[in-house]
This record gives sequence, structure tokens and C-alpha cells, in this order.
Amino acid sequence: MTSKQFTPTVELNPHSRTPDELDVILANPGFGNFFTDHMFLAKWTPDEGWAYPRIVPYGPLTLDPATAVLHYAQEIFEGLKAYAHEDGSVWLFRPEANAERMQRSSQRLALPELPTDWFVGSIKALIEADLAWVPRGDEKSLYIRPFMFASERFLGVRPSQHVTYGVIASPAAAYFPQGLKPVSIWLSTEYARAGAGGTGAAKCGGNYASSLLPQQEATAHGCAQVAFLDSSEQRWVEELGGMNLFFVQSDGSIVTPSLSGSILEGITRDSIITLAGDLGHEVVERRVSIDEWRSGTADGTITEVFACGTAAVVTPIASLKWDGGEAVSGDGEAGKITTEIRSALVDIQYGRATDRHGWMRPVQPA
Ligand code: PLP
Ligand code: COI
Repeated sequence: MTSKQFTPTVELNPHSRTPDELDVILANPGFGNFFTDHMFLAKWTPDEGWAYPRIVPYGPLTLDPATAVLHYAQEIFEGLKAYAHEDGSVWLFRPEANAERMQRSSQRLALPELPTDWFVGSIKALIEADLAWVPRGDEKSLYIRPFMFASERFLGVRPSQHVTYGVIASPAAAYFPQGLKPVSIWLSTEYARAGAGGTGAAKCGGNYASSLLPQQEATAHGCAQVAFLDSSEQRWVEELGGMNLFFVQSDGSIVTPSLSGSILEGITRDSIITLAGDLGHEVVERRVSIDEWRSGTADGTITEVFACGTAAVVTPIASLKWDGGEAVSGDGEAGKITTEIRSALVDIQYGRATDRHGWMRPVQPA
């Protein structure tokens, strides 16, 4: 089986939003609230491989109630952003890294791998159709959500023989409504996000489903996100429900939990490891215990804590809370090194700094 050549058909939406409607949406998009006029779809079967790539008007998918994904959650997704530069050109940040992560997620979820040229091509085709939706200025962006799911109508438990891949896009401002203000994080002591041998390193919907109850707990305690520990010892810091973690130490070095097999390999995490090195910081990937987080913020060895991810970009963490305690980091404002790293990253993404690592991919010229 070989996949067909990537030549998507295009069916334009006759009911696309008017420029005035779009202006209203783009002025205050929030995160994940509005979707562009089009979407990309393709399907896979064992006989044909990947086939029928197409841009169609955005709209509901009709699913048989016996569609496998609704029962066994064989589903993966990705998240990346398109950025408008000052000169009007539109760019993607490291899309091949997302393509490769989706291929790794496919392997773990027994889904077919989407070739990198299909992944990047599908995103470019959608942005070209919905170019007017890429917000300009203000550190806004177009959040792209590729996803793949088991679309076979069958209740036996085995990998689906019919798979759907889609891409939707949503104009985005800051993920957290308070913008760059440091957030509080809730430590989940009862629930784990993923376990050894599980799906934690894959970007699959099930990981997020299992994070929702502790996330609800976090919200009830006034926290923006939930922090998870490893499932076997409940000792090692893994990540947040939707972001990786970094700790800045008093000597200027930066520590991030090493990839344990149950942590998602964030592309922002990987980029920050490189950029922090460029900025002269020693970066160490190693295990970080929850005791180190608590005692380090108390005795000043840890001076700043931040979360990072495509949606969150770089978000300072003001405190970690748990039943009966709190570990406060910083003075309630974004720390100096957190701010420096955040700027280094977004300046590349928005074309204000030289892309020394060759991370940006043009979608549309100025
Ligand atoms: N960890 C989890 C669980 C996530 O959902 C995300 C977001 O995608 C990340 C980490 C950060 O990954 P990336 O930087 O590739 O967006
Ligand atoms: C992303 O950053 O792309 C994610 O998937 C995280 C999610 C919490 C929106």
C-alpha cells in the first residue's frame, strides 16, 4: 500500500464569514472558540493508504454510533500555530517536528502513519484557504489542530481499518485569560496522567480525558492547570495536563524533567532547551522530585518556574498548591529568565529575531 500523491481538491465555503464578521472575531478570539471557514479531510484504508485529500467547508462530521473511536478512543492529535509577520507573510514553527510526533503517536495507538509531506501539505492547504483568519499583531496566532481517529463502523476491539485525518484551525490569543500573569498550579496527589508503558508520550485524547477530573479539582482550588507526578512512586515531577515544566535555579541553570516515557515530548520544550543554551544558560534534563520543587522554592534554590507548550507559549508559575500547602515561586510577576526565554522564542516565531536554527517554514509570502 502506498499513499496517493498529495494533491488536495478544494471546495470553497459559500457561507464564509464576511470581512466585518471576521474583524469582530479576530479582535477577541480567546482560545479554541472560533473555527475557520474550511477544514482539511483525508481517509486511510489498508487497500488505498492515505487518499482523498480535500479542503471542504468547515462543518459537522456524521458518525455512525458504532464508529470505533466513540468506544475505544483510538485517536491522536497535534497542535501548532501559524504566525503572521510584520510584513504580512505567514509562517509555521517546526511543523515537521509535529509531523514526526504524530507518527510516533500513530505507532503507539496502532494508527497508520501520515507521511510528513501530507501533514505539512494539509496544514498549508488549509491556511491558504483561510489566510484571512491568521490574526495580525498582538502576539495572536492561528492555532492548527490536526487530528486522526478510528472511523470504522465496528465494535470488535482491534485497530480500525478505516481512519480519518482532519485539520481544523482556530484564531488564538493567550491560552490563559489573564495573559502573561503567573498562574497557580494544583498538584494532583490522587491521580496520575499516564503510567509506565501507557500512552503518556503520545498525544492522544485519552491522556486528556484522564486529566479532566484532576483539572476540575485544580479549577475548584483556583488553579489554572494540574501538575502530575509519576504513577509508580508519586515522587517525580512529570508535566502539567497540557504543558511541560522548567525550573530556573539560583545559579542561572535551568532544569526540566527528563523524558520518562510518560511525558509528552513538547516541541516548545525542545526549542527552549536550545534557546536557553544560546542565551548562555546551562540546561539539564534530569529527574526532579516533588520535594525538590517544594524545598527549592522555599530555600531559594529554585528562583523561577514556568510551563511551556504551543497553546501556553511560556507561562510563569506563581505557586504550586496541594491539600494543606503551597510552594510559592517568585514575586507574582513573570521572572527575568522566564521573560528572557519567552522573548527569545516568540521573537523567532513572529519574525522579529533571526531564525538561527532554521525552524520557520513559510506558508504564504508577504
Ligand atoms: N505536554 C502536554 C500534555 C501537552 O498537551 C502539550 C501541548 O501540546 C505539551 C506538553 C507541550 O507540547 P508542545 O510544546 O509541542 O505544544
Ligand atoms: C497545545 O499546546 O497544543 C495543546 O495541545 C495543549 C492543550 C491544553 C490546548
